Amino acid sequence: MLQRPKGTRDFLPEEMEGRRAIEGRLRDHARAWGYREIATPAFEHLELFTVKSGEGIVSEVYAFEDKKGLRMALRPEITAPVLRMYVNEGRSLPKPLRWFYFADCFRYEDPQKGRYRQFWQFGTELIGADTPEASAEVILLAGDLLGATGVDFTLQVGHLAPMKKVLAPLPLEVQARVMRFLDKRDFDGMERYLAETRAGGDGGWQAILGTLRDLTAVRDLEELWKLVGDIPERPGIEALDRILAREGLSFSWNFAIARGLDYYTGMVFEGFASNLGAENQILGGGEYRLARLFGGDDAASAGFAIGFDRVVVSLRNAQEIPVERWPVVMVITQGKGRELAFSAARAFRDAASPEAPAGGIGYRRQKRIVALVDLTEQNINKKMSHAAKVADFAAIIGDREAAEGTVTLKDLHTGDQVSLSLDDAVTEVMKSGPR
Ligand code: HAM
Repeated sequence: MLQRPKGTRDFLPEEMEGRRAIEGRLRDHARAWGYREIATPAFEHLELFTVKSGEGIVSEVYAFEDKKGLRMALRPEITAPVLRMYVNEGRSLPKPLRWFYFADCFRYEDPQKGRYRQFWQFGTELIGADTPEASAEVILLAGDLLGATGVDFTLQVGHLAPMKKVLAPLPLEVQARVMRFLDKRDFDGMERYLAETRAGGDGGWQAILGTLRDLTAVRDLEELWKLVGDIPERPGIEALDRILAREGLSFSWNFAIARGLDYYTGMVFEGFASNLGAENQILGGGEYRLARLFGGDDAASAGFAIGFDRVVVSLRNAQEIPVERWPVVMVITQGKGRELAFSAARAFRDAASPEAPAGGIGYRRQKRIVALVDLTEQNINKKMSHAAKVADFAAIIGDREAAEGTVTLKDLHTGDQVSLSLDDAVTEVMKSGPR
């Protein structure tokens, strides 16, 4: 028996319906903030990701040579492709651009719960705005989107400038390595590495390590300035703090956030699900400048991506994901009724509720009826017992019903049975509540 590749998943209908319901809420909320959906190719030139994504990502890229010998890669993330697209297509559009995407990414990682080789990101990019309000919008939007999914989460916001000031005495490649240790919250590894390289000289690296540990504990801006002194980014960070406080966003400052990707330039932030274990990071993002690197203008950008699969795992741990269910009718015909099977089913399908069902934001707002046509040649008892497993109602049309122009509508949950005109049967099914 052939197995699916390691780190990938199959999704049965129940799973897909739950995923689509959550995706629908994310889309609705992103659209209400003025973000519009875009899409980029599943594969790109490898170079797009090696330029600035950073060592961590590049070692995980699914890279391959195409038939012409060009080096290609399945996208490990979508920010670089979006900025490539902006440089190719979007430069003359009115800025700032507000874009969102929902697509799969590929990383050659060691799979575990919440960590896959194919996974989905719901992300947004704000291109061409460089104010504290722009940073604030991105963080507030992230909070709004995570809130819309129903997941229980916390947000941590940081900025790379204080950390970079602490690391400044170290050579650039050492800084990059140290930031990767920070990203993994691996202080032991960092200490071993710094002791080995002795970058900054004796005493130098130890002092830096000490300050980095202190930086991890900083939770408010006063403490931060005391630790690292004044920096040019201070007014921007303070303005962002004021906006987020004014908007009542619940978050904490964390100036040890380093992010695993190399393109970030300023504010960085992460979201965590409260009920997940090791793979509890459900969102990551920040400010970056990639457009110029790809041959465009130096557009200031900021964005984030939600790890959609982790959100789904978190929700399933907490509750059943509510999906909007439509009533299901099995049309069962016999004798003269057989010719009426498809037209009767169509009458059920064509009916649509005039307005959204109560209960808010769904993927599809109109209630419809699902109509199945019985395709077997079994006896009526077998047909009925199959119908009871897959449908809410059976609409039976035999010789008598065909002659009278009626259907026998049986509620498969209660066993109640009535003889009705087709129109009335449709109305009756549409009226039925959730099962
Ligand atoms: P990232 O932190 O690498 O950022 O990924 C974003 C989110 O994707 C993570 O927080 C995590 O929830 C999810 N994720 C990452 N790897 C996996 C995996 N192997 N399996 C399941 N989920 C995973 C980015 O990709 C940036 N492009 C985000 C961004 C957008 N920055 C600016 N704009």
